[in-house]
Amino acid sequence: MPRQMGSSPDPTFVDLDSEAIAMRKPSSPTTIIVLMSGLLLGGLLSPAASAEDPAPCSAKSFKIAKVKAACEDGGQPAAKNLMKAAVKKAKEAGESMTCKSCHSELKTYALTGDDPVGKLEKWL
Ligand code: HEC
Repeated sequence: MPRQMGSSPDPTFVDLDSEAIAMRKPSSPTTIIVLMSGLLLGGLLSPAASAEDPAPCSAKSFKIAKVKAACEDGGQPAAKNLMKAAVKKAKEAGESMTCKSCHSELKTYALTGDDPVGKLEKWL
């Protein structure tokens, strides 16, 4: 069946390709297991890794000392926790507040609205 001639026409290439795939098939369960254990290991290891090395805050300078301290201690996750606590306090006091009240979007945490720094400081 394999026609290995110097200048093979396109259909031959297709034939060879599908044979190569067929030949790889028997070994593919092993490949999948290897891949999956790799993923599993990665999944198991990454939380530990990120706990030690959290994503840093993107801001280079800070206006609020507490935010700065949180960023220095625990990066963005720590800053988020601080924010969440502030939002919770504000809500408990009856003020409607979400992350989006002060951040136009939650990727860069770009500030938006009227005096977000002043508003946040009130609840820290
Ligand atoms: C009342 C306004 C306000 C609200 C509500 C708020 N933030 Fe913030 N956030 C700020 C301000 C102001 C800063 C920058 C502080 C500074 O410059 O010292 C900041 C900074 C951050 C940062 C650090 C960004 C970086 O990488 O430099 C993160 C992360 C963050 N906020 C997450 C959140 C999340 C998550 C929520 C919702 C639970 C939230 N914020 C709600 C005002 C707010």
